[in-house]
Amino acid sequence: MEVIIVKTGEQVGKVAADIIATGMLRKPDFVLGLATGSTPLKTYTELVRKHKEGGLDFSKTTTFNLDEYLGLPMTHPQSYYYFMWENLFKHVNINPENIHVPSGQILDCEGFCEAYENEIVDAGGIDLQLLGIGRDGHIAFNEPGSSLYSRTRLKTLTKETVEDNARVFDDPDEVPRFAVTMGVGTVIDARRIVLIANGTGKAQAIFDAVEGPVSSQCTASALQLHPKTTVIVDEGAASKLERREYYDWIRDNKRQIHDIIEKQIRKRLRLEHKDWG
Ligand code: PGA
Repeated sequence: MEVIIVKTGEQVGKVAADIIATGMLRKPDFVLGLATGSTPLKTYTELVRKHKEGGLDFSKTTTFNLDEYLGLPMTHPQSYYYFMWENLFKHVNINPENIHVPSGQILDCEGFCEAYENEIVDAGGIDLQLLGIGRDGHIAFNEPGSSLYSRTRLKTLTKETVEDNARVFDDPDEVPRFAVTMGVGTVIDARRIVLIANGTGKAQAIFDAVEGPVSSQCTASALQLHPKTTVIVDEGAASKLERREYYDWIRDNKRQIHDIIEKQIRKRLRLEHKDWG
């Protein structure tokens, strides 16, 4: 697990957007897993900027969102489909046919969840999954106690999550208690994972996820088992990490990797030149 600590939430968004854009440039038919909530907003603003000013092309990109509230239509301002449309999709050249957000209005829940999993497989799997983290350490809506092998399904949200989500609903009675969500197993099948967090409110969850034991009590800790996860946090969210010095040490020394490899390539080329006479 790579841990990148930056000063501000704005920088968290920029670093995450740079990683996503690099993946999209390398593979035009990139399959991108997306998250909602307040944390990814800066990442989306930066991706939109890269599209408008730098021509970042979404025309062949396919997206899969993590979750959706049960019962909300796509047109509801608090639905995650609406959120994605307002904050990313309508600003870039994505083909609407390539957008996948779980439906909040389903009759056959099991059938829908199985079909969603199949669609991810048919798309070739997710190349990069962007994640936020809940105060209780959830990823997507995998609340504490969710199986670390879980797949897309219906989940009951915890009281804490319902309270956190209530800030954006006018009527507290309207806040959904259920969501359709990718499972932890679905998330960790992605080839690369980028988890972002801002602020001291997330510090304990980040500590549990990065330095705590792997446990279903903090579903984000399952990312410790993933071979390619990058955690990008601001100073507030990093404030409870105990191995901070080591993460900074890695950052400072990583800059040398490029120089070491470059030196080796030059040496190798000199040797080959010698062989050729
Ligand atoms: P937030 O939500 O970005 O609004 O804090 C994150 C989450 O619950 O996954």
